[in-house]
Amino acid sequence: MRIIRARDYEDMSRIAANLFFAQIVVKPGSVLGLATGSSVLGLYENLAASYESGDLDFSEVKTVNLDEYAGLDGKNDQSYRYYMDSNLFSRVNIKRENTHLPNGLAEDMAAECARYNSLIEGFCGVDIQLLGIGHNGHIGFNEPGDCFIKETHVVDLTESTIKANARLFADEKDVPRQAYTMGIQNIMQAKKIVLCVSGSQKAEILREVLYGDVTPQVPGSVLQLHPDLTVVADEEALGGSDRV
Ligand code: F6R
Repeated sequence: MRIIRARDYEDMSRIAANLFFAQIVVKPGSVLGLATGSSVLGLYENLAASYESGDLDFSEVKTVNLDEYAGLDGKNDQSYRYYMDSNLFSRVNIKRENTHLPNGLAEDMAAECARYNSLIEGFCGVDIQLLGIGHNGHIGFNEPGDCFIKETHVVDLTESTIKANARLFADEKDVPRQAYTMGIQNIMQAKKIVLCVSGSQKAEILREVLYGDVTPQVPGSVLQLHPDLTVVADEEALGGSDRV
């Protein structure tokens, strides 16, 4: 595991974006595994800026997102499809057909999970997977539980995740109760993983993820076993830990 200590959110976003920048330059047809949320927003801003300045070309890039709310249309401004379209895809020259998220409106949820697993398998591996971490240690929407679930599945979101995500909805009751997420095996099969963490409110869970027991009760702890994990975290997230 490699830990890069960033000064603050902006510094973290710039450093993490540089890792994706390098990946795309070295392999223009890279498969990027992407995440949504606040932690990665600045990274997308940096990548869009690199495209706008003519330094980065997304024409061959393919993307596959970690997760999507069940029941939301891609045009709903709370869906992850909408987030990706507005924060990255509409701002760079990526081909729409090369961007993939679970279909929140799929009628047959089991078939949608199977479709998404085959899609990931068809890529012969995600080249670089971006992750944030939830306050309860979730990655994607793999919530704390009794076992690591390997492949794409539908999850019931925990109360803590619903509360954390309610900030983005008009009312907490509007937060969907279920979501599609890549499983732990899907995530761990990525060739490289970049985890972005910012802010003192993530310090405790980050310490547990990086140095605690590897347990499905803290899903992100499994990342300790990945052979090419880069953690880009700011001073506040690295907190007072003397281990990092
Ligand atoms: C979203 C995702 C989630 C977030 C996590 C942190 O696609 O995969 O696991 O990374 O909930 O969210 P933020 O960055 O908003 O704190």
